Amino acid sequence: MSFPTLKNDVFLRALKRQPVPYTPIWLMRQAGRYLPEYRETRAKAGSFLGLAQNPEYACEVTLQPLERYAFDASILFSDILTVPHAMGLGLHFITGEGPKFEHPVRDEAAVAKLAVPDMSELQYVFDAVTLIRKELNGRVPLIGFAGSPWTVACYMVEGQGSKDYRLIKSMLYSRPDLLHRILEVNAQATANYLNGQIQAGAQALMIFDSWGGVLADTLFQTFSLASIRQVIQQLNRGEGDDAIPVIVFTKGGGLWIDDIAQSGCDAVGLDWTTSLARVRKQVSDRVALQGNLDPMALFGSESAIRAEARRVLDDFGPVGSGGHVFNLGHGISQFTPPESVSVLVDEVHSYSRNMR
Ligand code: CP3
Repeated sequence: MSFPTLKNDVFLRALKRQPVPYTPIWLMRQAGRYLPEYRETRAKAGSFLGLAQNPEYACEVTLQPLERYAFDASILFSDILTVPHAMGLGLHFITGEGPKFEHPVRDEAAVAKLAVPDMSELQYVFDAVTLIRKELNGRVPLIGFAGSPWTVACYMVEGQGSKDYRLIKSMLYSRPDLLHRILEVNAQATANYLNGQIQAGAQALMIFDSWGGVLADTLFQTFSLASIRQVIQQLNRGEGDDAIPVIVFTKGGGLWIDDIAQSGCDAVGLDWTTSLARVRKQVSDRVALQGNLDPMALFGSESAIRAEARRVLDDFGPVGSGGHVFNLGHGISQFTPPESVSVLVDEVHSYSRNMR
């Protein structure tokens, strides 16, 4: 497939640890409820799934944050739970309660029925990727994404979000064979899904391991990181300078950075509890880093937002042989004042230009 020429490659260069004129920035969940124009399109679509499953709507909301802010990357508007939905688990969203599955996977019979879905079930995602690439017209690169096999399994077993992960951890400690089977299916499905996104036009990939951090040490490596590695190994990323970079983000993964950096990824996403300087030293610039402003900093005054942005940039320090992509340490809150984001983008761009 051929697409318009890329005009702003600062994000891709930073991921590859090549010199850049300033630190690129995008935000996790940058298209979402904090934007009035998103809420308007969502009302038209009727529901979150109606929005995600319609390529025109998905494209519209993907581009909305780029109209307002000078972000250096766009991210496909979709969800990590489209994959188990394609497996037949029956995803729906209940207003105010988040995602729920009609058929959670909790016993041997349900696990036995589980299979890698045919990728034609996810064609609407691939169509959205291709449409977004065209409509972006080369402004900035497009990030494709998926959940980690463990994080997606959390929703499949719990049937919804969870505070204590009791059901999936019960399975982990009593029937690890069942959990391993789920993870195997998820890893294969995720690799196929991300390869489909590459084929459709994704220019970078991110794996969201949002709940890796709830696992005990060594169990994280066995039940989350091993399947992430399996996914990355199967990706058709291409070679040389054009290879598609991969970002792995484990929320709460600060203590396992060495392991995560060796997963085959190009960049590691960090939450706000870690020090960029310390992690950078630890990985000796072998991978780029993404993060890590506390999303709640956007509720501070303008001068506080600017000071926090500078603190994060100073913490990473002079870029040298490293690579830094500015982001939040997790998704932006739906209550964030949209003006705060303009302030943040301005400070990151201007301060980081002056650091060089
Ligand atoms: O970053 C982006 O702008 C891309 C879009 C995106 C969404 N979900 C849109 C969305 C991405 C990358 C995701 C990933 C995702 N989805 C994750 C991993 C990232 C993270 O935050 O840790 C997880 C755990 C999910 C599962 C999920 N989807 C939950 C828990 C919820 C409810 C959250 C809430 O705030 O209510 C969703 C729904 C969802 N996905 C929304 C959006 C914009 C809100 C839906 C709405 O409009 O009501």
